[in-house]
Amino acid sequence: MTPAQALKEIQELTSKINYHNDLYYQKNTTEISDQEFDLLLKKLEHLEKEFPELKQPDSPSQRVGGTITKEFANVYHKYPMLSLGNTYSQEELEDWDARVAKGLEGDAYEYFCELKFDGVSMSLTYENGLLVRGVTRGDGVRGDDVTNNIRTIRSIPLKVKGTNAPASFEVRGEVFLPKDVFLQLNKEREDIGEERYANARNTASGTVKMQDSTEVARRKLDCYAYSLLGEDVADTHEESIQKLEAWGFNVSPTYRKCKNIQEVIKYITEWDTKRQDLPLETDGVVIKVNSLEQQERLGFTAKSPRWAIAYKYKAQSISTRLNGVTYQVGRTGAVTPVAELEPVFLAGTTVKRASLHNANEIARLGLVIGDYVFVEKGGEIIPKVTGVDFEKRKQIQKSPSVSSDYHAMSFVTTLPIHQTNQSLETFRYTDICPECNTKLVRYEGEAAHYCPNTRGCPPQIRGRIEHFIQRKAMDINSLGEQTIKQLYELGLVKSPADLYSLTREDVLRLEGFKDKSAKNLLDGISKSKETPFESVLFAIGIRYVGKTVAEKLARYFKSIDKIAEASLEDLLKAPEVGEKIAQSVYQFFRNEESQLEISRLKAAGLQFESTAKEPEKLSDVLGNKSFVISGVFERYEREQLQEIIVQNGGRVVSSVSGKLDYLLAGDNMGPSKREKAEKLGVKIISEQDFEKLLTGHTL
Ligand code: IVH
Repeated sequence: MTPAQALKEIQELTSKINYHNDLYYQKNTTEISDQEFDLLLKKLEHLEKEFPELKQPDSPSQRVGGTITKEFANVYHKYPMLSLGNTYSQEELEDWDARVAKGLEGDAYEYFCELKFDGVSMSLTYENGLLVRGVTRGDGVRGDDVTNNIRTIRSIPLKVKGTNAPASFEVRGEVFLPKDVFLQLNKEREDIGEERYANARNTASGTVKMQDSTEVARRKLDCYAYSLLGEDVADTHEESIQKLEAWGFNVSPTYRKCKNIQEVIKYITEWDTKRQDLPLETDGVVIKVNSLEQQERLGFTAKSPRWAIAYKYKAQSISTRLNGVTYQVGRTGAVTPVAELEPVFLAGTTVKRASLHNANEIARLGLVIGDYVFVEKGGEIIPKVTGVDFEKRKQIQKSPSVSSDYHAMSFVTTLPIHQTNQSLETFRYTDICPECNTKLVRYEGEAAHYCPNTRGCPPQIRGRIEHFIQRKAMDINSLGEQTIKQLYELGLVKSPADLYSLTREDVLRLEGFKDKSAKNLLDGISKSKETPFESVLFAIGIRYVGKTVAEKLARYFKSIDKIAEASLEDLLKAPEVGEKIAQSVYQFFRNEESQLEISRLKAAGLQFESTAKEPEKLSDVLGNKSFVISGVFERYEREQLQEIIVQNGGRVVSSVSGKLDYLLAGDNMGPSKREKAEKLGVKIISEQDFEKLLTGHTL
């Protein structure tokens, strides 16, 4: 391909990607699947690697990450990032309105209402239409430069649309993790035995500050823009919002201009329930004086503007009866206590159950069956028990008729509740598995109890099979939860390997299966044998090995045998692998049952070796020169560098010798390597030097 052809292709791909991105984020519709979208991005990335000089500053390939930042630079905000005054009552709101009226000395004014989005505030600087910086709020005066991570957020334009944006301006917005993305993320974490994240806000905040932008890109953050700052950018806030929309920013369509405080109150009331249906958490309404000239006249107090205020919705909390505690056992054997509640209507839905997390949480709350407890649907999507309604408990204790009710409950729940006539004591947490009666264990440093009966406990067995067949793993979509349950109950499948010896007769024993559906099911299982190694590695369900880690392990070790043989030190050398994962992988392969399962899966014909082709040759520009890569790099992961070197005709070696051509040095490189290279006269080059080599320059 000639550079001219490449440029044309790059431009076409860029506009296609931008078009689909815009459809997705601005118009809430799609014309292609996620996979097709990713394919377009991959093609673009590939071309950019081949023709680095053609990469555009606003290239959508930045959306996939690929940078590592060890420490974020601390930068000053051009305009300080202030907070907002809060109010929880209509009265206070009316007082604020009176102060606004007074401040404006009788002039007419309007308000602009928006929801208060519960995420992390972000300052985005644009110069000549391009996103140049994304900075966290920090202490309001200085924040962290997280630009590389922010570039992965697809709803933040890398280049603004149209031609009428000023040369320089700043956008403020809220970066958030959409509720469904958060739920999915937690499901995935639970699946690999990691603890769940507590809430979407903190997770978004942690994600924004991750070192590896590739991981940030995977998390699918989103951003709502709510302020435009710059010189002479608009006359009203409404106009700012319209401009932001026109330039391609994601603005929540929930705003409304209001003529007076009564209209504001109406807006607040309306959104109190409607906000439950929004894709993100909101905790109030932000009310802003619409005219920017009037905003300026009203000015600021030391901490916050006088022209805006936040009305905070009260955390929605309700008291209901704790009828009992049940326990759920997950795939990894982790036991989660669940509060069984007297059904109660809260924030749009009927709540019957709430997670209690673990034994420590129950002890902390001091729960007793039969208590009235407060249930909240605050920042979390899953209802949460926040405390005991002690007033109600006192009433119950006083009344003999209700007190006997406590006994009744203890009977129903079969939980040992210790109580004397006068006082109630907290119950003892179950010490046996509710599913298989095995004695539970607790591992050091972990809050959860575990059922150690991994091979015999029904939900653990079914869970492993469900994990195995999921889309990201073996992708056997002819199998569902119900079918797995039946297969297990009929004694046909006790482990993933059993799936591969199922016969037509076996399947026909299942309820609702006829010739055609049985054939479908078996074809699906058979086809899964082609699933690539990295997905198989994820499917076999090693604790803490999620899809990303499985991919890295597969690429690094290339076969299951190599992984199985690897020592702890070997494992620790692989990318993304720390002590916890290394231990888990090491133990897994030393367990006889895992060994047996793997050998059966091998015999069934699954892929246990990486078939990833050697990286496609792109050029010979590196002319068989040898490289040692050491340290951490700003723009590349080490593996990426390895790949680029090989793709462009170079060689990667592991130790510094007199024959070595280049030591590619990142940050934190060990001093001994540098010393040795210096002594032997080996050229030490930076990431930037390396890029020069790639474009055919000599150093
Ligand atoms: S305007 C002077 N609008 O709330 C501050 N802020 O307490 C002007 N927030 O840090 C902020 N939604 O992160 C504004 N629609 C919205 C908002 C919003 C959420 C956050 C923002 C800020 C905090 C202020």
